[in-house]
This record gives sequence, structure tokens and C-alpha cells, in this order.
Amino acid sequence: MTLSSLGLDIDPAIDARVSATLAAVEDALRDNVASADPLVAEAARHLADAGGKRIRPILVAFGAQFGDPDAPEIIAAANVVELTHLATLYHDDVMDEALVRRGAPSANARWGNSVAILVGDYLFARAADIAASLGPEAVHLQARTFARLVHGQIAETVGPRDSDPIEHYLHVIAEKTASLFATSARFGGMFSGAPAEYVDALAGYGETIGVAFQLSDDLLDIASESVQSGKTPGTDLREGVPTLPVLYALAGDDTDARLRELLSAGPITDDALHAEALGLLRESAAMKKARETVRSYAEEARARLAPLPDGSAKQAMAALCDFIADRTS
Ligand code: IPE
Ligand code: IPE
Ligand code: MG
Ligand code: MG
Repeated sequence: MTLSSLGLDIDPAIDARVSATLAAVEDALRDNVASADPLVAEAARHLADAGGKRIRPILVAFGAQFGDPDAPEIIAAANVVELTHLATLYHDDVMDEALVRRGAPSANARWGNSVAILVGDYLFARAADIAASLGPEAVHLQARTFARLVHGQIAETVGPRDSDPIEHYLHVIAEKTASLFATSARFGGMFSGAPAEYVDALAGYGETIGVAFQLSDDLLDIASESVQSGKTPGTDLREGVPTLPVLYALAGDDTDARLRELLSAGPITDDALHAEALGLLRESAAMKKARETVRSYAEEARARLAPLPDGSAKQAMAALCDFIADRTS
């Protein structure tokens, strides 16, 4: 997968520079997931080979445009974030009982939960090893980011308890997803030697676009008709993970009574009821409101770019905001 496959309308010179970085990231990633054990090697390679958008390495590469984009640490930093992400996908698919990932069988579907969990652990270990080559600050940042991400996954698992469900949800997605987006953009600035004020702006942009990205991913889980996302649509409803459209529907006064009834019952495992709930949700006012929320986070991410110098890199990062607000896969 390359930058151009995201369909971003960006300056050709930036496109060429970022694409060259991504190609080098890809080569390193292949080496970094290797193992002497044939089963570990095959299972660790499985999702890296299956594709993925590489959005976190793209954020590293974008951030690097504000310093020396050819600094050798950029490739290693992008590998740290992609390996961390990959590892979380192995574990997330166990937790969510997901059978398809990146258009391929999930690791848990193919090798069972134990292998999927352990290979995820192996990939975390690989990420830590590469972070160590970048120095103690990178190790701290990777570890703290991972800790935030895990807290997000735990908070999602235990639910809102006594807190407001919408606030809880927004907190969960900031922790589980925006944390790594923020660190990705920060790494790009840091390891290219960009000025500190730029590095902070990049992290703020990464955090906000990360929230928009997870929101849009949750909308796609409801809106996509097929496996265009490379995942099984409707997984959140089936697993009883309430996402923003569901929370808006449950909180709204004008929600269709049948939709409210279906959503109030928890996980929807019956195929006919699941299809009915998805259909009603797609047409609901709650879905429309959730799309507006994604757009507002995307606009906020664009505003976070203000401290950065004008130019084609900043424009590319603004284009990414539109891509995320409007994306269909
Ligand atoms: C999936 O992330 C998990 C979320 C944070 C929604 P991506 O949508 O970046 O997954 P890949 O890497 O492209 O497969
Ligand atoms: C993604 O969680 C976040 C992490 C993997 C940390 P989700 O469960 O919402 O993402 P998908 O839909 O499986 O990619
Ligand atoms: Mg999942
Ligand atoms: Mg999940």
C-alpha cells in the first residue's frame, strides 16, 4: 500500500518523498517481523503482508517534512509505530472475536487465540527492541503510548460504569487510537530534528486526527456494505461495543422506537435482528449527527496545524483531514 492508494490530492514532490520513505519502511518491516521459528515467522508476517493503510508511518513521514526528512531514524521510528499497531491488531481481534482483518483471515481465525496473543506479544517485543536503538526517549514514549492504548482497550471492555457514555466513548478512542497517532506525528518531528514548537503542534494534530480516524472507522463498521474495509462490517453491534451512532441513537428523543429496542438489548448476535438494526442505524438521524462529529474533529485537526510553516507538507496534512472525514474504506 502506498500514499497514492489513499487517493490524497497532494503536491507531487511531497508524494515522492513520503512514498520513498514508506518503501524503505516496508523493507525494514519485512526484516523486523522475521523469526527463526517457522510458525512465529509465518504468523508474524501474516498481517504485515496482508496490507493495511500504513497511516501511522505516513504520519511519521509527514512530521519529518518539518526537519530533515531523510534522517535515518525516521525509518526505525515508523517501524516502531507500525509494529506497535500491528501487535494491537492481533490482540484486538482476539478480544473482538474478529475473523477478518486486512482482507485476510485474522490470526486468531487462522491459528487460534493463543498463537494470536503470543505473536502480538512478539511484535511488541520487536517494537521495543527497535525503539531502544533510537534511545531512551523513544523507549519512554513508546511505552507510555502503549500504556495509554491499553488503558483505552480496558476502559472500552469494562464500559462507562457511572460516567456519561458519550464522554466515556470519546475518552476510550483518544486512549486506544489517538495515543499512537499523536506519537507517530511526534516521532516524525522529533527524529527529523524539527523545532520543539513544531513537534508539539504535530503531536496535537496527530491526537485530534486520531480521534477523527477512530470515529470514522466506527461509522464504516456500520455503513460499509461489504468487506471494502477488509474487516467484517457490523462487528461492533455483534460484540456489543457501543460506538457513537449507537450512543447518539440511545440518547436521542426522536430515535425510532424499534431501533432503540434493538440497541438497548446489548450484543445483537441473531443475524436477522443484526441486519435490521444495521439498516435502521444507517438511515438514522444519529448516524448523520455522528458524521458531523467526525467532520468537526477533522476540522479541529486542521486547526492544530496552525503553528507549522505554510507549504506543501502542511497542505498534505490538511488533505488527510478531508480524507478521514469523507473516507469510505
Ligand atoms: C485499525 O487501524 C484499528 C483502528 C484504530 C481503527 P487501521 O485502520 O489503521 O488499520 P490498517 O493498519 O489500515 O489495517
Ligand atoms: C482498534 O479497535 C483500536 C486498537 C486496535 C487499539 P477497534 O476494535 O475499534 O478496531 P477495528 O475495527 O477492529 O479495526
Ligand atoms: Mg476490533
Ligand atoms: Mg476493539
